[in-house]
This record gives sequence, structure tokens and C-alpha cells, in this order.
Amino acid sequence: MSKLSVDHLLGIKNLKKKDIELIFKTADNFKRIINQPIKKVPTLRDITIANLFFENSTRTRLSFELAEKRLSSDVVNFSSSSSSVKKGETLVDTVNNILAMKVDMVVMRHPNPGAAEFLSRNVESKIINAGDGSHEHPTQALLDSYSIREKLGSVEGKKIVIIGDILHSRVALSNFHCLKKLDAEVRVCGPSTLIPKYLDSLGVKHFTNIKEALNWCDVANILRIQLERQDVNYFPSFREYSMVYGVNKELLDSLDKEIVIMHPGPINRGVELSSDVADSEHSIILDQVENGVAIRMAVIYLLAQKINK
Ligand code: CP
Repeated sequence: MSKLSVDHLLGIKNLKKKDIELIFKTADNFKRIINQPIKKVPTLRDITIANLFFENSTRTRLSFELAEKRLSSDVVNFSSSSSSVKKGETLVDTVNNILAMKVDMVVMRHPNPGAAEFLSRNVESKIINAGDGSHEHPTQALLDSYSIREKLGSVEGKKIVIIGDILHSRVALSNFHCLKKLDAEVRVCGPSTLIPKYLDSLGVKHFTNIKEALNWCDVANILRIQLERQDVNYFPSFREYSMVYGVNKELLDSLDKEIVIMHPGPINRGVELSSDVADSEHSIILDQVENGVAIRMAVIYLLAQKINK
């Protein structure tokens, strides 16, 4: 049986192309299962997983929990707001105490970039990064590329534009790595203040004109403006951002071609994306959410093969 080349899922940067292809092939099987009347398999009955969320989440947290339950693993959920972290306990102490209760795998979202990698070096457990600050969100990038593959047949050679707040986005960085490993063409679009300088070294080109960007691409992945990570104003107002970079039906209707619309959620309706596009036939936003469960089942299943019991 094929195995992942990594012991943890910390970021897409650490994965090889063949790891991503293995995750997709495994997710294909799980997607078939979760679309049957009985959506559960007994595969991981001997595994216990802790979900540690130090930051808010709807999609990722519920998707991981459903993935774990559909694999029949035992699940415990931890939220930092109601924990002893509030009394000053360190991250490593917190996790080591959870692991002492015979937990095998940790899924963690944390506001600090590098938190998942730090944990993987300091505790004895498999670690899955569910988003670390503005660094990486590997399962989001995997489900995004998987959804493109499902919609367009493959990712290779497809033109993807990522629009919006690239500077503060872990989704963007993980998507660049994933799409490039899968041989897609990636560009970005947004105000120069929200485009990080490191993109030049990754060979990612920048559009400032939204219509030009949409006419170039096969797929537009539209990001939320992440106010919680912004210390200064990067553009004059939401109204102006929406007028210059917002994607709406009038703009889509003016294009020379049909394109696929994606968004990792949560959407700021009326800012980066209008409701008549978010809810249109162009949008695969809810397919992304559905595919998130199969992708997370695949990642958990493949990492569980590496646990020495
Ligand atoms: N896409 C995503 O990470 O959403 P949540 O913050 O709701 O988990």
C-alpha cells in the first residue's frame, strides 16, 4: 500500500506531488462512501483524535469532526476559551496532558504561524495543521484543488486566479504550493498593499485589473478581507474595495467566457462577492465544503497508517 512521505500534515510545502495524488485517490473512495445511505466505515475504531481550536472555525472544525466520526475514530474537542490555557498553561503542557489520555492524533488551529510545526517537534503525536495564523491551511488547499479536479477533470494546465487579501491569507499560500505542485498556472489579483513581496520568488504574477484577471482565468478563488489580521487600513473603504475588486453578476456577464467561482468561506457577501454570484451555477463553494470531509478523511486515514500501535 502507498504511504505519505510525511508523518504530519503541517503544510503543503512539505508534501510531494505523489502525496497529493495519493490523498486525492483516497478521498475519491471516501467520497463514494459518504454519499451512500450508511456514511460510516469501521476503519479507525482503534484511533482517538483531539481537535484543538485556539481560533474560531465553522467549516474546518465541523468537517474534521465529521471526517473522524465517519472513520469511526473516537473524538474529543477542545476550545481554548473554556480551557486551562486561560490559567496560563503552555501549549506543550496542554497537548501532553491530552495525549496522556491515550490520544493518537491532534488536529490544531492556532493563531500563531508555525504553531503546528512547533508542536510536531515537541510532542509524541501525529499533528494535522487546521490553519496556523497567516501561514498555511493545508486541508483547505487540498480540498480546493480536489474541487477543481472534480469540476474541470484535472488541475494540470488550468489557470487559477486568487483574488483579494493575499497578504494575510494562509489559504492563498497553501493554494500556491498545491496548485504549482499540480502544474496549474497561478496568478493573483488585488490591491498592491495586499499582495506580499514573496510572490515574485514563487513566480506568481499580479493583476491589478479584475476584468483582465477574470478573462485570463478558468477558475477564480476569491478570498475574504481578513480584518482580524490587519493592523492598518490597506484600502480606503469596503465600498471602494467592492467597486474595484468585488465580483458580481454584471462583471461575470461582461466576460468573454464562463469561469468557475470558488471561495473558502466565510463570505463577506456584498464585499468581495455578490450573492447573485455566490449562489449561481458558476459557484462550486458548497462542493468545496462537501469535498472537505472526504479530503480530511483521506488525510486522517493516511496519517493513521503511520501510527505505531
Ligand atoms: N475555510 C475555513 O477555514 O473556514 P472556517 O474558518 O470556518 O474553518
